[in-house]
Amino acid sequence: MRVQRGVLIGCGFFARNHMAAWDELPGVEIVAVCDRDPAKAEAYARDFGIPRWGVEAAEVLAEVRPDFVDIATTVGSHRALVELAARHARLVICQKPFAETMEDARAMVAACAASDAMLAVHENFRWQRPIREVKALLEAGEIGAPRWLRLSFRHGYDIYANQPYLAEVRDLALTDIGLHLFDVVRHLMGDVERLSCEVQRRNPRVAGFDAFQALLRHGSGAVSSVECSFHSVMTPDPFPQSLLVVEGDLGTIEVTEGFRLRLHRGGGAVEERGVEPPCPVWGARPWHLIQESVLEFQRQAVAALEGRGTVEPSGAHNLGTLEMVLAAIRAADEGVVVRL
Ligand SMILES: NC(=O)c1ccc[n+]([C@@H]2O[C@H](COP(=O)([O-])OP(=O)(O)OC[C@H]3O[C@@H](n4cnc5c(N)ncnc54)[C@H](O)[C@@H]3O)[C@@H](O)[C@H]2O)c1
Repeated sequence: MRVQRGVLIGCGFFARNHMAAWDELPGVEIVAVCDRDPAKAEAYARDFGIPRWGVEAAEVLAEVRPDFVDIATTVGSHRALVELAARHARLVICQKPFAETMEDARAMVAACAASDAMLAVHENFRWQRPIREVKALLEAGEIGAPRWLRLSFRHGYDIYANQPYLAEVRDLALTDIGLHLFDVVRHLMGDVERLSCEVQRRNPRVAGFDAFQALLRHGSGAVSSVECSFHSVMTPDPFPQSLLVVEGDLGTIEVTEGFRLRLHRGGGAVEERGVEPPCPVWGARPWHLIQESVLEFQRQAVAALEGRGTVEPSGAHNLGTLEMVLAAIRAADEGVVVRL
């Protein structure tokens, strides 16, 4: 099988995880990196031994003609870069948030469809080991039909140290982590037909809403509560774990702090095991949960490039998640229940 050649655009804080994961995966090679800041592109080329770097994505892609493009820039640049990449590669991967508007998101999906390019959104939370384990238990019918879920991402970790731009975003909890949580909920419980949401500004040092709680009604009749806060004081701090309870007709699955998974099946029977992922050799705690999920997300991208399956979630699927985020912002602003 020939090596799949990729270009990474956006040599910032998070893309170091992408680069380390591509390096670990067989059958794939990053042949060029690009950042509008030459110092960052050059540093990545040096640190990861990449032969070509540049500042103009159009020039780099025209010269390199890659199999795939991995876009790890912040949201404002996504549409232009995805539309460009669709003309040069078979697979385009775009970091979350995919877009700020449905118009931009639909345009990116249409551009990739017109060029016959696969489009995936880098939604790694559904690829985290605890979530993969819960999904497998649900698919095996271990608790029967899922009826109720609570998904909770609350911590006091200083996210602004690595991502200072977040302190200026109005709806930061919904647009930074809310969309990951909504993707997980759709993945486990199915599509949502209506939602309501409350937001809070908890940390006086940030400009936007750093906490939210959303109540979702799924098409199946199931109900989910999704909550997030970046200003919760807890010891030990669970960051970056999502804690979860799913109740089904036959039992309950819990994922608690410290990566414990409990399967309750009635009559007092409880099975408990650890679901902590291994720390990649290039990783560091507490980020290993996310770093391992980046590796698993990218592993399926290589498989798709080799003609084995598709990449999940696709851009088209992510339209529904973005629609939920925008609906939650509206629900909170107007104090209404929004139908999707
Ligand atoms: N999935 C996750 O778990 C996760 C975690 C952290 C961040 N992210 C997402 O990753 C994205 C990047 O976040 P970050 O914290 O690394 O940001 P960052 O600002 O550190 O890095 C972004 C880089 O993109 C470059 N860039 C922007 N526009 C460009 C363009 N048109 N052409 C070339 N380069 C361009 C910038 O110069 C910068 O170096 C964000 O959308 C963020 O939400 C995802």
